[in-house]
Amino acid sequence: MHHLRQAKERGEPLTMLTAYDALTARIFDEAGIDMLLVGDSLGDNMLAHPTTIPVTVDEMIPAVRAVSRVARRAMVVADLPFGSYEASPQQCLATAVRMLKEGGAHAVKFEGGAHLAEHVRLLTRSGIPVFGHLGFTPQSENLLGGKRVQGRGQEAASHLVADAHALADAGAVAVVLEMVPAPVAERVTEVLRVPTIGIGAGAGCDGQVLVWTDMAGMTSWSPRFAQRFGEIGEALYGATRTYARAVRERTFPAPEHTYEK
Ligand code: KIV
Repeated sequence: MHHLRQAKERGEPLTMLTAYDALTARIFDEAGIDMLLVGDSLGDNMLAHPTTIPVTVDEMIPAVRAVSRVARRAMVVADLPFGSYEASPQQCLATAVRMLKEGGAHAVKFEGGAHLAEHVRLLTRSGIPVFGHLGFTPQSENLLGGKRVQGRGQEAASHLVADAHALADAGAVAVVLEMVPAPVAERVTEVLRVPTIGIGAGAGCDGQVLVWTDMAGMTSWSPRFAQRFGEIGEALYGATRTYARAVRERTFPAPEHTYEK
């Protein structure tokens, strides 16, 4: 929390990536990423669900636990999946407690604005740091009519700013802004005393988050806002093809991979 506050004060950009397992979390942690988000994007990225909506708490917990076990430096933030927090502040607290107790997370994130201020307040009073999530909120994509930029136009932008204020006033330690016009994200960043973490929200946020599979080029398609900083999917495909060929041609295992006694 101290680092988050300091980063905002000093204007030092914060880095966040999603992580869903120990293997990748260890790499991201060692590479110096500030925050690892065990996102409910686990659903579409790892579990082959069409959206994040089907993801359950029981599916999230092992992922949170794996990431927490290897994170030495990064803050681990666990997403609360759809249906696990909206009904009441008490439901939200119960799910968040599981993420901390069973998963080992340091903080939780959930989607929604002012109507969830009481949820944020209760968790904060209970000692659980909360990340808000505004703009395009994937768990509401059925209501929003698909993956669409949010906060366009005066009224929608003012609404978004008011939501961000409500979350921060209730105790949220940071607010994720997803698919929001850059000037709106800049306005929120300016008026909020806690950091904003953008995804598809321009360069004016206090930090950036990407889904790691988009960042590393694991898939053939990635969203417009996500730069591919590597082509790991292609590299993995190539390694797999080379391995399969070596086995079929009996060039693997070679003598140096073989125990003679
Ligand atoms: O679940 C997730 O990956 C997220 C990011 C898109 C912020 O919530």
